[in-house]
Amino acid sequence: MSIQETYEKMKEKLGKILPDFEIKYKAELVYKINQLKEERNAVILGHNYMEPALFHTIPDFKGDSLELSRKAAETDKDIIVFCGVRFMAETAKILSPDKLVLLPAKKAGCSLAESITAEDVRKLKKKYPGIPVVTYVNTYADVKAESDYRCTSGNAARLVESLNSDTVIFLPDEYLAKNVAKETGKHILFPTKKPRAKKENTIEYQLIGWEGKCEVHEKFTVEDIKNVRKQFPDVVVLAHPECSPEVTEAVDFSGSTSAMIKYVEQTSAPRYLLLTECSMGDNIAAANPNKEMLRLCSVRCPHMNEITLEDTLKSLEKLQYVIEVPEKIRKRAYKAVERMLAIG
Ligand code: 13P
Ligand code: SF4
Repeated sequence: MSIQETYEKMKEKLGKILPDFEIKYKAELVYKINQLKEERNAVILGHNYMEPALFHTIPDFKGDSLELSRKAAETDKDIIVFCGVRFMAETAKILSPDKLVLLPAKKAGCSLAESITAEDVRKLKKKYPGIPVVTYVNTYADVKAESDYRCTSGNAARLVESLNSDTVIFLPDEYLAKNVAKETGKHILFPTKKPRAKKENTIEYQLIGWEGKCEVHEKFTVEDIKNVRKQFPDVVVLAHPECSPEVTEAVDFSGSTSAMIKYVEQTSAPRYLLLTECSMGDNIAAANPNKEMLRLCSVRCPHMNEITLEDTLKSLEKLQYVIEVPEKIRKRAYKAVERMLAIG
């Protein structure tokens, strides 16, 4: 496809949400990236939070973290370029150790991944021996290596239920833990808070949580929802389960990033409010021009925002930034990830 054809295709998809000069400029970058991708025998995986001009152009596969983990495990390409954040690229390396895994930005972190260390998990395991440890995908490889199972927002409740264990250590997202507790009927203890007095022969807690938070999703409030519903009574509101349980209780649907995309696609309402990272609203708007997306968009994830078309091109040119996971840690983390993929 020539630069002109790339531009025309982008114009068709993005013409309603991006100015023409931006599409022209980015079409050139997209063209170069797609050429280099072929030459290098690379696959590009794009998380649902990528900005529209990247999301709708260069990824071979797009999706939530669970779907992209599956694609990373299946690929036969030599190089995986991960347009997402570091913990996602690390998961790709855990699953495909023989591939060169590249993250286009040096850091691209995550407030949840930074909220807990491997040492924190070791201490919890010492305090609560024999209890299965489930960690959310938004953690680094050394934390996953200390865990028995890994989960994503797409399968957290299903995984906890499948364990048939009276108690589960669930880390590190406080709100996701509370949402899973609500769905599975479990009670949570936070070891950092004072435990409730235990009555004779009663289960005091069934989930042991941690107080990590997503710096984007923690910002949404029930008040935001009330205000928008007042102004637009027919609006359908969706929220990611990293939002507080009060927020997920007040919305029409809560699910992983891909589950929210599917919900909008399969529902016929004219207007939607997404309580999640704001690029995803733009991506849905571009793909569904007949649906109006309202966004509370002061909240762009600063880490996802570090992944640009410019840096993705540089990443393929210079083969940077290489994701390494020490083999000892990788092997242990692999078991946790493999168990999750087996559960589904
Ligand atoms: P998903 O697994 O739903 O894609 O979410 C990842 C994430 O980082 C949400 O903030
Ligand atoms: Fe992490 Fe939140 Fe950004 Fe997702 S949106 S990568 S959980 S900081």
